[in-house]
Amino acid sequence: MATFNEKRTCSERMQNFGRFVWNPDTGELMGRTLVKWVFISLYYVAFYIIMIGLFALSIYSLMKTLDPYEPDYKDQLQSPGVTVRPSLYVDEDIEIVYNISDEDSYRGIVKSLHTFLSVYNKTKQHEMMNKDCSNLTDVKSLLAGSGRTKHACQFTTDMLGNCSCDKDPTFGYASGQPCIFIKMNRLLNTNYNNEMIRFWNHNMYACTTQDDLGHVEYFPHGSFGLQYFPYYGKLAQPNYTNPLVAVKLLNPAKNHEFTIVCRVNGSHIISENPHDPYEGKVTFKLKIEN
Ligand SMILES: *[C@@H]1O[C@H](CO)[C@@H](O)[C@H](O)[C@H]1NC(C)=O
Ligand SMILES: *[C@@H]1O[C@H](CO)[C@@H](O)[C@H](O)[C@H]1NC(C)=O
Ligand SMILES: *[C@@H]1O[C@H](CO)[C@@H](O)[C@H](O)[C@H]1NC(C)=O
Ligand SMILES: *[C@@H]1O[C@H](CO)[C@@H](O)[C@H](O)[C@H]1NC(C)=O
Ligand SMILES: *[C@@H]1O[C@H](CO)[C@@H](O)[C@H](O)[C@H]1NC(C)=O
Ligand SMILES: *[C@@H]1O[C@H](CO)[C@@H](O)[C@H](O)[C@H]1NC(C)=O
Repeated sequence: MATFNEKRTCSERMQNFGRFVWNPDTGELMGRTLVKWVFISLYYVAFYIIMIGLFALSIYSLMKTLDPYEPDYKDQLQSPGVTVRPSLYVDEDIEIVYNISDEDSYRGIVKSLHTFLSVYNKTKQHEMMNKDCSNLTDVKSLLAGSGRTKHACQFTTDMLGNCSCDKDPTFGYASGQPCIFIKMNRLLNTNYNNEMIRFWNHNMYACTTQDDLGHVEYFPHGSFGLQYFPYYGKLAQPNYTNPLVAVKLLNPAKNHEFTIVCRVNGSHIISENPHDPYEGKVTFKLKIEN
């Protein structure tokens, strides 16, 4: 009896629901006539169009207040991020491994370095209208470009001394005295003046390892100034090229794996940030086989 009752209630409900979805007597669909449905739809379409319009307007007015010539995103990073070329990644680590006796093992490395350094070609830097900043006097007016654009300081391969391609087309890889290129990332819009440049002009970089790395040469010699670092963004300074340091290992032990840490050094430069292992320094492995 009870089950029969339940069954009846159930089929009744189904029937009611059917009538709710489509009521042939009143011509109502889901409890409303078709005309009402059209009005409701129009109402919501208008509602959403107005909402989207308001949203677009607020985004638009926000964009209007942003200056495209000012980087809209400045982080607190005071020390340049540092990367190394050749960038041969094995998992997360950079491992530069090759065999002097096997040209195939370093041909790719040398090719990638030629590509990487091509933008530092003197002719190319001239075409890009990058300025010679070697004299520190009044860098600001030197870099003033047309309109709101700025020129950048030129950085050319001849500043890389014995690590420039015209000195040795294999960058020392064939002779077992490889050059490693340390690239310092741009510092956004650093406020600087000549005093600060002089202040920074001390041993700006050093590569160290637990083992004896042998004699190491750095190019450019000693250091270079802060004038290479301020970066005003892609629009204001389209031809900026990152400064480099070439590290030439003159007599590294063969068949030994070195773990080398290269640090940028200067006042206010941090290279011991536990949260960012790339801030101010770079670590890589090097093994030269023969
Ligand atoms: C720079 O590029 C020019 C032509 O684009 C080339 O003739 C010259 O050899 C290059 N210089 C170096 C040092 O690679
Ligand atoms: C950037 O380089 C291009 C040529 O590559 C040059 O036409 C342009 O004027 C340069 N811009 C600035 C701001 O120096
Ligand atoms: C830099 O200054 C020295 C002496 O003041 C001058 O001889 C040299 O030509 C200058 N170099 C550049 C690139 O302006
Ligand atoms: C460059 O290499 C040559 C010969 O290999 C050497 O005589 C010279 O001292 C090196 N230059 C520098 C600046 O170390
Ligand atoms: C780092 O630079 C400071 C001066 O700014 C200098 O006293 C110190 O010896 C340098 N450290 C290295 C490892 O070169
Ligand atoms: C380096 O290459 C040479 C010639 O191909 C080979 O005899 C030697 O065993 C290689 N060295 C290592 C450590 O693999």
